[in-house]
Amino acid sequence: MARKAQSSKTFPIYVLNGPNLNLLGTREPEVYGHATLADIEKAVKARAKTHGLTITFRQSNHEGELVDWIQEARTTGCGVILNAGAYTHTSVALLDACRAMNHPLIEVHLSNPYKREPYRRRSFIAEAADALICGLGANGYLFAVDALVALLKEEKE
Ligand code: DQA
Repeated sequence: MARKAQSSKTFPIYVLNGPNLNLLGTREPEVYGHATLADIEKAVKARAKTHGLTITFRQSNHEGELVDWIQEARTTGCGVILNAGAYTHTSVALLDACRAMNHPLIEVHLSNPYKREPYRRRSFIAEAADALICGLGANGYLFAVDALVALLKEEKE
């Protein structure tokens, strides 16, 4: 898919979160930390603001809804930061949606799946992502915003 930089001043970065991430803060805090998804949303929006950018931040437990949002980002976003949760390891539908992406896409995980159970070591998303950030907890989302900004700058040059 040919990529054409979409103005990041006009179009938001989509930060999309998959199943069970609505439970952050109470869900296995020893693995995922104590920050809630609302805390992460606030921090991500603040970080984007320092770059003069805006964020569309969403979470769904439903695969098809995530597919719809990735497709939406093609026309109304400038890039995607995706934590697909467990769908990372199972979803060819999400992979196909990511493959059709025409903007930079960064895969994020709070934990480091490669240090965990064998079934988490396969990522379908990674086959279409420009970059992968994992194992850095909630900060990984902030690094992903910075990295996406760098990728967008490169595309403009
Ligand atoms: C996760 C890792 C996945 O393996 C898991 O299913 C999640 C969260 C993470 O952010 O560390 O739900 O994506």
